[in-house]
Amino acid sequence: MAAWVHACLEPPMTLPTSLTILPLGVTVPVVPGQSLLEAALAAGVSLPRSCRNGTCRACRCQMRSGAVRYRIDWPGLSPDERDAGDILPCVALPGTDVGETGEAVNIVIEAPLAQRQPAPLPPPPST
Ligand code: FES
Repeated sequence: MAAWVHACLEPPMTLPTSLTILPLGVTVPVVPGQSLLEAALAAGVSLPRSCRNGTCRACRCQMRSGAVRYRIDWPGLSPDERDAGDILPCVALPGTDVGETGEAVNIVIEAPLAQRQPAPLPPPPST
């Protein structure tokens, strides 16, 4: 009985989900509900993008490992492109819910035009 109560009071298992961006070799965290593009931008990595809603295909890149699902029903990829591993990171979410597999989830994408964003300038000194 005590073990059951303890289990019910435990917070849900939240194992980390991460995104590795090649060829930069940068790994960034992906928080629940965040698209892969949003995760990259939040960590200071710029990926090609335009519409951010899965239609223009400017963000199209290759997924090397992992799984994604989409925020929208019809992301702009053909079945052949999906089979070849193409994804649209602007609307792609981790395909496995955090903690579902019992181990950390890592998604690896190949995005040749990815760039590290310069660190923001510090605020001007106050006078
Ligand atoms: S930014 Fe347009 S499809 Fe991703």
